Amino acid sequence: MKHIVIQGGRRLEGTLTVQGAKNSVLPILAATILHPGRTVLRGCPHLSDVEASISILRHLGCKADWEGEELAVDASTLDRWDVPDHLMREMRSSVVFLGAILARMGWAEMSHPGGCELGPRPIDMHLSALRQLGAQLREESGCLRCTARHMTGREIVLSMPSVGATENAMLAACGAEGETVLVNAAREPEIADLQDFLCGMGCKVRGAGSSTICIQGGQPTHDVTHAIMPDRIVAATYLAAAAAAGGEVELRRVSHGHLSTVTAALHAAGCQISGGEGQVVLRSEGRLRSIGTVRTAPYPGFPTDAQAVLMAALLRAQGATVFVENIFENRYRHVDELCRMGADISVAGRVAVVTGVPALCGAQVRCTDLRGGAALLVAGLMAQGETRIGDIFHIQRGYEDPVRDLRALGAEIWME
Ligand code: UD1
Repeated sequence: MKHIVIQGGRRLEGTLTVQGAKNSVLPILAATILHPGRTVLRGCPHLSDVEASISILRHLGCKADWEGEELAVDASTLDRWDVPDHLMREMRSSVVFLGAILARMGWAEMSHPGGCELGPRPIDMHLSALRQLGAQLREESGCLRCTARHMTGREIVLSMPSVGATENAMLAACGAEGETVLVNAAREPEIADLQDFLCGMGCKVRGAGSSTICIQGGQPTHDVTHAIMPDRIVAATYLAAAAAAGGEVELRRVSHGHLSTVTAALHAAGCQISGGEGQVVLRSEGRLRSIGTVRTAPYPGFPTDAQAVLMAALLRAQGATVFVENIFENRYRHVDELCRMGADISVAGRVAVVTGVPALCGAQVRCTDLRGGAALLVAGLMAQGETRIGDIFHIQRGYEDPVRDLRALGAEIWME
């Protein structure tokens, strides 16, 4: 079993180029099957979740091959419409294949998806959107069977701006006749990236980034090469790491605008932040101050995925910071692990209060989920002594090579 080991206390200095976004590439990989032709994805991150998507694509009969940093998919040979249970359990976003398979094949069969344990993660909004387009769905012994010989575009109002339900509905609507209008759609930048990809293939989609998205049904017509947008949560993680450990770090291939709530929080905590075209620079003395209350919210609010890494950065801050987690019910599973390192955090339901302590000490800890694992990296970098992080497969779902990246910034970190 591999561990990541960190000898804490080093300042971070240097420049990093940020990997492609996991939450963008996963729905785009599902979308590749809409086009019975070839797709090339540039800057595709090497992640276990991407490998899981590749396994699904290959199972469906597509060709999917790495060509260096590019991933080429040929969906002209797709000949199945089912996703086996063991592949569905690998990750939550496997469910986005449902809309894509229905749009291309008119049938789909799969079980409920897996993913990080963050509390109940229903897919009722996904299924409701597909039903409204005309799909018939049956659930038998944990298996979803969907038929959609003919789907018709219409207005679909989401009861909340779910990222996955928005993506699933967009993909299914490409296979429907006429126009679908998604109201109260999620506004995350990854959805705009999905729209760009779909338009590159010849689909007619507009409005992503706003809460109303219009999709004109029709099969895509073009082979496409698409560059995956930078990962704003990986960027947030490395900014939080530099804020916590102290130092000066420049991140390249980032969108400053996508990070504004995170950089505003780090600025309020005492970091100096500047940014230019595709670049952010953070300077920190390593002694931060608390920042009042951080409330997670759908984009453009503070991202739930950055809650754990910001919390870790503030563990030694002067004063108390209150976190309110509004997206997922159970997203403080990393707290017990941080407390093993000497953190002072109390949790009541959706609220966590972090009171800064003078120092953290290295400890043996375990990742409980993807972003909780990233928080342990941040804490380990500023702790005194050695931190050994177990169950790192969670981190590998979303971070290409954090050991390589943090070493490049001068951290004493290695894999054992
Ligand atoms: C996506 C991201 C994840 C991020 C989350 C919120 C990907 C691959 N994952 O997850 O990293 O943390 O957005 O920004 O892009 N809900 C329902 N019914 C549904 C669907 C969702 O009740 O049918 C609820 C969820 O339980 C949750 C909330 O809606 O409480 C938001 O979930 P959603 O936006 O759908 O997140 P995901 O797409 O799963």
